[in-house]
Amino acid sequence: MIIINFKLYKNTFGKGALKLAKICKKVMDESKIEVVLAVSPVDIYKIKKETGLKLYCQNIDEYEDGRWTGWISANQMKKAGASGTLLNHSEHKIPPGKVKKILKNKRKGFEIVLCVRSIGQAEKWALKTKPDFIAYEPSYLIASKDRSVSSEKPEAVKRLVKMCGKIPVLVGAGVKNKKDVEIALKLGAKGVLVASDIVCADDPEKELKEMIEGFKKVC
Ligand code: G3P
Repeated sequence: MIIINFKLYKNTFGKGALKLAKICKKVMDESKIEVVLAVSPVDIYKIKKETGLKLYCQNIDEYEDGRWTGWISANQMKKAGASGTLLNHSEHKIPPGKVKKILKNKRKGFEIVLCVRSIGQAEKWALKTKPDFIAYEPSYLIASKDRSVSSEKPEAVKRLVKMCGKIPVLVGAGVKNKKDVEIALKLGAKGVLVASDIVCADDPEKELKEMIEGFKKVC
């Protein structure tokens, strides 16, 4: 599984998001490797309608239906077409108490990918919340041009995989080629999270295809 985090670049919302999503769909259809897009809540409905791809939000709030002006609920996102969400991404940190509340009220059919920046976070509180996935992203490696979680943190990934047991682990930060993917999978990760290498590329199709090669070699 590869999650492409669209973040909030100029080309990753509105028309740009749809264009990029269509490119990702083409590659996914050809490769049969699962690609999930984490997009802005504003774009979920349209991208789902036009591509049918599996989509995640980049974050949700702890509230459900009711008097909650301006907040985003899991129910609302599920109805719009999202299959889940990232949570506690290092660019959208959330206090552990809020994470626990969201996980406690988790809806069926709405997956939560809980992001941690360190193994300590996973150990201390994140694992206890029982998310669908734990995503390990050391923040200092995000968008790195020459290093990645795979090249810099292999021991940590291995430890985390062991610690998580049945909860699948995803890794991200600086992932940019098939070698990074291969290493991550060999260490026991079930997939990767990627952003800049694909969404900021002149040729996102080429970059995504290359990354998918890493899955084909290991899977
Ligand atoms: O959520 C994925 C993201 O934070 C990784 O970003 O640019 O290092 O692939 P990047």
